[in-house]
Amino acid sequence: WLAVAGAARTVLLAAPRSFCAGVERAIEVVEQVLQQRGGPVYVRKQIVHNTRVVAGLEARGAVFVDELDEVPEGAAVVFSAHGVSPQVHRQAAERGLHVVDAACPLVTKVHTEARRFASRGDTVVLIGHGGHEEVEGTLGQAPARTVLVEAPEDVAALEVADPERVAYLTQTTLAVDETAEVVDALRARFPSLRGPASDDICYATTNRQDALAAIAGESDVVLVVGSANSSNSVRLVELAQRRGVPAHLVDDTGEIRPEWLAGVRTVGLTAGASAPPGLVEEVVAALGGLGPVTVHEREVTRETVHFALPSAARRS
Ligand code: F3S
Repeated sequence: WLAVAGAARTVLLAAPRSFCAGVERAIEVVEQVLQQRGGPVYVRKQIVHNTRVVAGLEARGAVFVDELDEVPEGAAVVFSAHGVSPQVHRQAAERGLHVVDAACPLVTKVHTEARRFASRGDTVVLIGHGGHEEVEGTLGQAPARTVLVEAPEDVAALEVADPERVAYLTQTTLAVDETAEVVDALRARFPSLRGPASDDICYATTNRQDALAAIAGESDVVLVVGSANSSNSVRLVELAQRRGVPAHLVDDTGEIRPEWLAGVRTVGLTAGASAPPGLVEEVVAALGGLGPVTVHEREVTRETVHFALPSAARRS
């Protein structure tokens, strides 16, 4: 640390950054259910992909499980912001669980599209990352009719029942530019390709990418606050790297490596949609501990989106 301490730095704060409306809602759902029922409240999968958020809720009585067979019969279980397949809902009903679904309404919208496209006879091509919970949930809406594509190279190998009846959907947290390449490849192979009325990449993902793009060029290094399993956070790191700027994902201040800051005058700072704003403040404070810091915020747009809580989690 000694080698990088003392130098004056500018921190360019991207805005919007940090929590989106879907994440705020999902966290509030768990808090409300904890308040209504007392602990333990079971949560299937991480409510949002952030270590700090999960630890905080755990300390208050939330019990995170991977699968529903770990939940005692009749207990309350919250489904995460990433959404689940109908099969998970069925399994919960069979076990008599009290379900509160914290799926982001923008993920639920994609689920509805998947079922609608499949029911009109289309093969549904889902663009996304295999193994991510949101992708599992969307694939499960119409499993017999949905195929997953991760990159433009995958398009050539696709087998579809009728090339005239193909529709695409996307995971909500993808890189806007990379996704456009996959859609172009799909359209080149299936000229009658149909898609959602408006993009499935959500407003929060798009805004955080735009905000980072606006500061990346002026930054010597970019720090993205977020956990390694947070899709939208990882996409932010990749966005900066594609622009030739060294970029690192940090879960908390302990992960900042001194060598990243050697010779650095301007640090670009942002946070994924699941990372708490307090963590960003902690990173700014940690940078301030290494020398005088001037913070400039660049706001590309102001977010006003807010989602109401599901009725099962509303305050009584
Ligand atoms: Fe929803 Fe987008 Fe956040 S899908 S949970 S608003 S990143």
